[in-house]
Amino acid sequence: MTGRFTLTHRLPDGHFATTLRADVLAGLTATPKTLPPKWFYDARGDGLFEAITALPEYYLTRAEHGILARHAADIVRLTGARTLVELGSGASRKTRLLLDAFRAADRGAPERYVPVDVSASALRDAGERLCRAYPGLRVSGTVTDFETDPALPADAPGPRLVAFLGSTLGNLGPPQRAAFHAALRAELAPGDALLLGADLVKPVGELLPAYDDGEGVTAEFNRNVLHVLNRELDADFDPGSFDHRAVWDAEHERVEMRLRSRTAQTVKFPPLDLTVDFAAGEELRTETSAKFRRAGLTAELRRAGFAVRQWWTDREQRFAVALAVPD
Ligand code: SAH
Ligand code: AVI
Repeated sequence: MTGRFTLTHRLPDGHFATTLRADVLAGLTATPKTLPPKWFYDARGDGLFEAITALPEYYLTRAEHGILARHAADIVRLTGARTLVELGSGASRKTRLLLDAFRAADRGAPERYVPVDVSASALRDAGERLCRAYPGLRVSGTVTDFETDPALPADAPGPRLVAFLGSTLGNLGPPQRAAFHAALRAELAPGDALLLGADLVKPVGELLPAYDDGEGVTAEFNRNVLHVLNRELDADFDPGSFDHRAVWDAEHERVEMRLRSRTAQTVKFPPLDLTVDFAAGEELRTETSAKFRRAGLTAELRRAGFAVRQWWTDREQRFAVALAVPD
């Protein structure tokens, strides 16, 4: 028997188009200019992110993979989950460590895997691969925005384990994180659990190369948002005229990715009737990537009604995986 894959769009038709327009209108008319990072992830952006995860400088994925490999059996034992939900699942590669551990345990694989992402193409690719690899697993791919929609299917069997890996939580600012934790907590029942991957604060000499690699893959990933705006909003960005920058913000303990305009230039968005001027050297902030400390993350989870039950790190303390439960 082969596994079953379905793809559900949870948001109304046109939601992403409307939100992209609103984000561009607000973010590119603000000072400084900003865009939310979710717009990196079209099929090309998904591929560039996958290439980033294999870069020698990008330690995050390898560190988290190591932690999950070591503790997957503990996670299965501690949660006994029958449904695995994964927010921002992307290519669902590390998920296999969890699925394998479920399969190895007496009680077998979870009955249902619910990968949640803005990228339908990433969900389709990953879902079909997983169905082939895990016969009998029901994969319910869900296209939505996890910031506004926790996307926990009401009909999925509990207990449910919600995985949010890769430190994608760090791409939300503190108020967005508080809202996200609260919305998720409201959906969870006793016995459910949250598995959170978090990149830790470390010396800037290790952090910045992860966001400014020697091959320029991260630079191309950063510029991809301009390609997305050209395609979706008929804009006329010349991506090659923007330099990639990665900057450590010590006050907020976060890496910022920016695109710096090499020259004074004007970009048009005909469907929005919008013209945006960039001064020479002006920067557009495209992503913040917060780095965490155990006390701070535990406290923000506690404020939302979660208790951290386990805190696993790699040997070098670069990355943490926390298992939290409704308190
Ligand atoms: N979890 C994977 C992928 C991380 S990349 C890993 O650890 O390697 C971040 C993923 O989150 C991308 O697949 C992106 O499409 C998705 N994503 C980003 N913002 C999102 C949002 N607001 N709602 C849903 N998915 C989002
Ligand atoms: C998905 N997210 C956690 C990545 C990060 O590290 O903030 C995205 C990324 N940005 C640059 N490189 C990778």
